[in-house]
Amino acid sequence: MPVTMSILITGGAGYIGSHTARLLHEQGREVVILDTLEYGHRTAVGDLPLVVGDVANDALVRDTCARFGVDAVVHFAAYKFVGESMEQPERYWANNVAGSIALLRSLRAAGVERLVFSSSCSVYGTPESVPVREGAAIRPESVYAETKAMVERVLRWETELTDFRGVSLRYFNASGAHPDGAIGEVWDRAQNLIPLVMKAALGRSAPLQVRGDDYPTRDGTGVRDYVHVCDLAAAHAAALDRLAEGELPPAVNIGTGTGYSVLEVLAAAERVAGREIPHEFAPRRPGDIAAVWGDTSLSVKALRWRATRSLDDIVATAWQWHVGHPDGYDG
Ligand code: WQD
Repeated sequence: MPVTMSILITGGAGYIGSHTARLLHEQGREVVILDTLEYGHRTAVGDLPLVVGDVANDALVRDTCARFGVDAVVHFAAYKFVGESMEQPERYWANNVAGSIALLRSLRAAGVERLVFSSSCSVYGTPESVPVREGAAIRPESVYAETKAMVERVLRWETELTDFRGVSLRYFNASGAHPDGAIGEVWDRAQNLIPLVMKAALGRSAPLQVRGDDYPTRDGTGVRDYVHVCDLAAAHAAALDRLAEGELPPAVNIGTGTGYSVLEVLAAAERVAGREIPHEFAPRRPGDIAAVWGDTSLSVKALRWRATRSLDDIVATAWQWHVGHPDGYDG
């Protein structure tokens, strides 16, 4: 029988997963990572226990739970590219939804009954009002977002009907990197603003395309709630603690409650980089909404968590990571 209980982190070799695994380890908790390394990086895992494989592999999941004495799970493993999800929906249904259901079945068979799920503010689609609260309508506008909403609902029913306890964390815009510069977001497939700003700043791409300057916002560019990846990691640790204490609401926003525009992010990045960042104005990106940021009252009340890092912390840590790792973990 294992001596200590562990936390299984699926997708723990990925961006948010590796930052969460690192924090939980630093807090003295036993962790074990399950990742296919299809997009994850072994380097990001450091010396933490890594099992290479798929969450849908029943025998592997059960064996890992038994070997490491798993008693809780943080489930990050999923495909996350919104555009790709609209071109290859079947891959997203299979990996994100069927994979999560298979994982749940294996965990229940292994007697593991607590799970924190990596969900997304994109389940709201275009919210009717901001800041958006957890009770807002769930109206996904992409296959990716739909997969997150579907798994949320499965978890809600599992929690309702059995002894299983799950909570879905709806991230806003995850960004930044670990302050020691050792782990961060690999930008090779990134479509998100901040890695693309860094690419333009470092001359690794054409000028940044500011997608739309005619939105009904304070400077015409899109407004989002950027939350530091280390704050996200802390939110998962808090969710695990609260789950161990008892019931939690089914879903909680993880954001800062403050929105920044594309031009404000660009200005912050130029301050940190100490240089002008080449950029051009371009048409709106199809499917983008003007402005969204999260209501944080439930995360404070239910998780006893709030974001502590600023936009400058985000761009400064992202800058440090990308300057030090222009080719991600491969260089
Ligand atoms: C941010 C802003 C763009 C690129 C994403 C995911 C979503 C969720 C949250 C995971 C927007 C503008 C962007 C560029 C730009 N993540 N922009 N030029 O679309 O808010 O949501 O993060 O669950 O699933 O899609 O993030 O970083 O792509 O865009 O002007 O080259 O930056 O229009 O206003 P988004 P983003």
